[in-house]
Amino acid sequence: MLKTAIEAARGAGRIIAGLYPGERRLTLKGFRDLVTDADTAAESLILDMIQTRFPDHAILSEEAGGSAIGSGYTWVVDPLDGTTNYAHRHPVFAVSIGVLEGEEPLVGVIHDPLRDQTFVAHRGAGARLNDVPIHVSGVGELKNAMVGLDWGHENEVRERMLDYLHRVLPRCGTLRASGSAALALAYVAAGWLDAYFQPGLKPWDAAAGILLVKEAGGRCTTIQGAPYRVQLPDCVATNRFIHDALLKLLNGEF
Ligand code: IPD
Ligand code: CA
Ligand code: CA
Repeated sequence: MLKTAIEAARGAGRIIAGLYPGERRLTLKGFRDLVTDADTAAESLILDMIQTRFPDHAILSEEAGGSAIGSGYTWVVDPLDGTTNYAHRHPVFAVSIGVLEGEEPLVGVIHDPLRDQTFVAHRGAGARLNDVPIHVSGVGELKNAMVGLDWGHENEVRERMLDYLHRVLPRCGTLRASGSAALALAYVAAGWLDAYFQPGLKPWDAAAGILLVKEAGGRCTTIQGAPYRVQLPDCVATNRFIHDALLKLLNGEF
């Protein structure tokens, strides 16, 4: 499964990077929610590969839809995370493929095709970037932390983000808005961000990334502090050292 996830993510990455310089075909599939011809072409390659090799496994994929998460293996696929960035030629996007065993992440692969960076996690076996082990950062205080976030598409989610910004911005080192939740989670795993939070995630944004963060030594919960599960929209992922402090701020307890 790990080998297939890596091969599929790299194959999809080649399609996405190949189409990047040309004209994009854009469709609006929801409020502020774009889909391009690259999303669907990358998805076809990934789904074909999974269906051929693991015909009994369930698949949940952003554009094609598919199964609910059951008790067996479920492949959770975001063929292009960061579509808005991609459509604007802002070079921050990735392919994200996770495999769940029941609800538990087992395999996670996030591939950035422009930088040729493949982040890989296997439950219990650690996290790697291009075959080199990675670990979360050691930053211990929020005032020194680089915190990633995303605005989400809906105005309701953005209103909540404004409240969070008021509380977090004055007390952290700095903030970065990513545009690719999957890549931001991979960056937490690599120690390039100290934390990331988002109140509007979908399973395909998070399935691979949360395993990477955990296997690299980090911690993932909801904003309320419950263990994070991929069906939940609220996610806080950190290097673990600043987790409690960030949760307190997000919940208005400071
Ligand atoms: C989006 C990105 C973005 C996040 C949105 C997602 P997409 O995914 O991960 O960072 O803020 O909530 O929908 O649509 O580019 O795959
Ligand atoms: Ca996504
Ligand atoms: Ca997507």
